[in-house]
Amino acid sequence: MTTDVVPNSGGTATAHHYGPTEIHQAGLDARAQPKRRYGIAARLLFLALDLIYGKKSTFEKFRVLEVVARVPYQAWEQVAFVAVTHTHEDPSFARRVHDRALLARAQQDNELFHLLIIEELLDNGGFERSSLRGRFLPQLIAFGYYHLSWLLYVVRPRLSFGLNADFEDHAMHTYLDYVDAHPQLAEEEWVSQFEDEYGQYETVADVLTSIALDEQHHRDESVALIDAARFG
Ligand SMILES: [Fe+2]
Ligand SMILES: [Fe+2]
Repeated sequence: MTTDVVPNSGGTATAHHYGPTEIHQAGLDARAQPKRRYGIAARLLFLALDLIYGKKSTFEKFRVLEVVARVPYQAWEQVAFVAVTHTHEDPSFARRVHDRALLARAQQDNELFHLLIIEELLDNGGFERSSLRGRFLPQLIAFGYYHLSWLLYVVRPRLSFGLNADFEDHAMHTYLDYVDAHPQLAEEEWVSQFEDEYGQYETVADVLTSIALDEQHHRDESVALIDAARFG
């Protein structure tokens, strides 16, 4: 990462804002990375999304990805807060648990900005959400995914981090593939009510690449946690 890459101003410790010259190179570097070998749970989730929303990437499908993306972080934060109430007699352990909760909250904030940006792009395109595919099913998938993430985190945290790393890796490649398949997005100006908080980008291609790079960062944070102790 180059020196003029600065922390995103959106209150997101886990995201970075890329300048116009860095984003192109960072996108190329990310594209060159091989996909992870996804586990069974991740592959079942991707299959379910393909069956409901189609194999082709669309902003409607990205919206569902972003609704679902937040829930592992919510589950981890929830477990950490419960844990901290039982560990107050060991201040250094409680401190590490608290730091983990703060990281999970920052990741949720970052995913929320992704969701808001995708919602705005959908609205700009005049997209009408159906009750079933636009509201009920994303909430149902998120509900199931939350409980799976929560359960894995309680029973064997590294499995929950691994599932999230798979999800984030898949999201990164999905966004980058979409940008590659739609070269016109590099000509489409990005005007957004969220650019002050998320970061300013000239084109829709650049903001989608920035989101992909956030997903890369989330993936790498989960990979780093896989081999760490539960709150170590
Ligand atoms: Fe995201
Ligand atoms: Fe993410």
